[in-house]
Amino acid sequence: MKFYIETYGCQMNVADSELVAGILVREGWGQARSMDEADVILFNTCTVRQHAEDRVLGRITSEARRKHAKPHLKIGILGCVAQRLGNSLLTDYPMIDLVVGTDQYLQLPRMLSMLDNWGARDSVETNPKQLYFDAHPLRQGRHSGFVTIMRGCDNYCSYCIVPHVRGHERSRITEDILMEVHHAGKGGFKDITLLGQNVNSYSYDGVGFPELLVRVNKVPTIRRVRFITSHPKDLSDVLIGAMAELDKVCEHIHLPMQAGDDTILQRMNRGYTSGHYLGLVEKLRAAAPGIAVTSDIMCGFPGETEEQFQRTFDLMEQIRFDYAYTFKYSPREGTAAADMSDQVPEEVRLERLNRLIDLQSRITTEVYREQIGTVKEVFVEQTSKKSDEELSGRSRDSKIVVFPGHAGRISDFVKVRITEASGWTLRGEALDNE
Ligand code: SAH
Ligand code: SF4
Ligand code: F3S
Repeated sequence: MKFYIETYGCQMNVADSELVAGILVREGWGQARSMDEADVILFNTCTVRQHAEDRVLGRITSEARRKHAKPHLKIGILGCVAQRLGNSLLTDYPMIDLVVGTDQYLQLPRMLSMLDNWGARDSVETNPKQLYFDAHPLRQGRHSGFVTIMRGCDNYCSYCIVPHVRGHERSRITEDILMEVHHAGKGGFKDITLLGQNVNSYSYDGVGFPELLVRVNKVPTIRRVRFITSHPKDLSDVLIGAMAELDKVCEHIHLPMQAGDDTILQRMNRGYTSGHYLGLVEKLRAAAPGIAVTSDIMCGFPGETEEQFQRTFDLMEQIRFDYAYTFKYSPREGTAAADMSDQVPEEVRLERLNRLIDLQSRITTEVYREQIGTVKEVFVEQTSKKSDEELSGRSRDSKIVVFPGHAGRISDFVKVRITEASGWTLRGEALDNE
């Protein structure tokens, strides 16, 4: 019997899909290379914005047609939509055979084996402290690897559904993380990303995040470390110092700003001001010259006036992120912001979003052009999508770099001189053409 997982949402979900694959393979399941080959299709879902949820439910509905040709095919829904909507999905979407929340993945093999006479779906245990101590992810990407260091979130930003679906924040045992990093490195995953909704608040038995980085930096099997996501309220000077000092820690930080207006930030429950945010970016750039700073920005939060929006726009223009993901606010049932009375009309949200997109694409183009002439160390991941004669990989400062080369160099670290910039991609030529 074979399974296929289709993953939506953030890197936490990507890592969870790898965990689910590990759990199923350990129980004797095979991995299907495509949906066509699968006996079970699992959708690992995201509900951070309504659009994300609608999209995946639409996709499940359309893929369910496969059941006509293959009556034994089962369809399962995992992840944050499963967690949010629970077993109501089974009645509202009759093509769905099982619903598995983010803390229930260890039960998945048992649930699947009982599926044909499955009467007591409600009895599946859920463990809100789940940390998957004894499960091992089956990493799918070939060279960059995710390692989850914590699960859940306690920040309750007023717009955000994540704490409601993923539960309280809990940190994994330091030794387990180090062991997993070591194994990932041995398996060829030399560029590791440590994952959590707010990695800066990692804490286990007196080990905080800067100390964790010091220890991960010593793992001999890996060459690079990155981490997502950082929260501006918890990014300490000690951490900035550690980032500057530790040789494997890459020159990149993803630091969601969300908004540039202090009243909006406060109503978002973000716990910092625009001035504090700007100060952090300045410190980071002084401590680690050349560091790439990337961000998440939101517009159309309830009550956002044109002037308040303009402050976000101006701060983005001042800071000049290497790239930023921009979103229009989407109300999520059960969050504090969804109940605020002054919701911004959809057309205003959309119009503001378009202004943010235009601004950031201009800035990204400029920042990327400034890289022309520099030399970057590229970890080669694959042949480029467009041509077999070109390779594509990532620089330490988290930019995609494409250059001519043959597949034998995949998983090498290659010095590349940048000659061209287009969109979010840099092009160049290898300096050490052996
Ligand atoms: N833990 C991370 C990621 C959270 S989700 C963090 O704290 O940044 C990723 C991004 O989605 C957020 O940074 C935010 O910009 C956006 N987002 C979250 N909830 C949203 C909502 N209700 N509407 C629109 N965007 C949202
Ligand atoms: Fe959501 Fe805020 Fe937690 Fe990020 S820190 S997951 S935005 S509640
Ligand atoms: Fe989406 Fe869940 Fe991640 S809601 S953003 S997949 S934590």
